[in-house]
Amino acid sequence: MSALMSLGYDQMQLAPFSAALAQQALSIDFGTRSYPIEIGLLDWRELGLRLTHRGGLAVVVTNATVGAHHGLRLRVALQTAFTEVRELVLPDGETFKSWTSLQSIQDALAQAGADRKVTLFALGGGVIGDLTGFAAATWMRGVRFVQVPTTLLAQVDSSVGGKTGINLEAGKNLVGAFHQPAAVWADLGTLKTLPTREFSAGLAEVIKYGPVADMAFFAWLEDNMGLLLQRDERALAVAVRRSCEIKAAVVAADEYEGGLRAILNFGHTFGHALEAGLGYGELLHGEAVGIGMLMACSLSSTCLGLEAGLLARLHKLLVMAGLPVRAPRMPEDRFLALMRGDKKSQAGKVRYVLLSRPGVAQLVEASDESALAAVRTHTV
Ligand SMILES: NC(=O)c1ccc[n+]([C@@H]2O[C@H](COP(=O)([O-])OP(=O)(O)OC[C@H]3O[C@@H](n4cnc5c(N)ncnc54)[C@H](O)[C@@H]3O)[C@@H](O)[C@H]2O)c1
Ligand SMILES: [Zn+2]
Repeated sequence: MSALMSLGYDQMQLAPFSAALAQQALSIDFGTRSYPIEIGLLDWRELGLRLTHRGGLAVVVTNATVGAHHGLRLRVALQTAFTEVRELVLPDGETFKSWTSLQSIQDALAQAGADRKVTLFALGGGVIGDLTGFAAATWMRGVRFVQVPTTLLAQVDSSVGGKTGINLEAGKNLVGAFHQPAAVWADLGTLKTLPTREFSAGLAEVIKYGPVADMAFFAWLEDNMGLLLQRDERALAVAVRRSCEIKAAVVAADEYEGGLRAILNFGHTFGHALEAGLGYGELLHGEAVGIGMLMACSLSSTCLGLEAGLLARLHKLLVMAGLPVRAPRMPEDRFLALMRGDKKSQAGKVRYVLLSRPGVAQLVEASDESALAAVRTHTV
């Protein structure tokens, strides 16, 4: 086994963690395509008026669940800034991140007479965000869209960074485009209606940022997990903001996933194999990633001599977050086959995001035996 690449952590323009800075505005630095990430209890009407491209047509894309909770409020809020506001409500579920849904959006845009000045609003979790972003990337070769993420996962991960796309029968996210939003409105108020299991799954992605980039934030999460579970807005503001800061710093340094961006996949090689192998829906993505991070920690100890203390702390934090820490059993050859299909694999060799020490990630090729040993350690 060999450490292939240190993940250029020092390329990131990341200020030290401070819970006190949670109120400051955040923006992601892409030169002329930079955009604001608004986090808090937001006034959508006021934010609409602050958009540089007001007026004209706004199309809100949402699903039946989220639309019922938050659709009316967004439509009313946008009426001040736009002359016409339409809403398209799709069915709820990952299976609707599809060609068929994409076509419904494009057809609705055509019917509404949308031109290149239209602004799409993605109101929902990562499914609606990825799908609407891809519709925006492809309608008339690219129009503006605003991410209004309503799951914790979408607020801390999928709404920031510009990856958009849909699933095929052959696999998830196989068709897509990089298309950055014009703004991200992460309204913590929308999280009040999010089911507990989805909330915990989002916490796994929050926790992920600690081991790969910021152990001070990890320690803060250990102290504040109780408040987060109560959905305390001040604690949420700190967690969402710091997660977005780290994601923004990584993506700004590596927009098209040449290297550094891989650190965001910590726990994901194992996690994706668990999700796919058990059948999508058995474990939520965040749940699979949580267990995957434990496996990656164990493999890091074998391959890079990571101290045992981090594994114990991570285990405890995941339990506190209400997340599973043991994977259901799955045939080992199937597990390996799924991991070989991971995007980071090259020539059949699986490459893992591992930790040389807490807070520092590397891309490492590991033997199948050592990977399976890590899997067994965290399997029922
Ligand atoms: N683009 C990226 O960089 C990126 C990163 C990570 C994940 N993703 C994608 O994100 C998707 C997963 O996103 P997700 O976990 O948000 O799932 P999701 O969009 O399916 O939302 C989860 C569930 O919560 C419901 N929901 C959402 N907001 C709610 C609210 N406020 N109140 C009540 N119910 C609410 C949804 O209707 C759904 O049933 C996957 O398709 C994944 O591929 C993309
Ligand atoms: Zn993830």
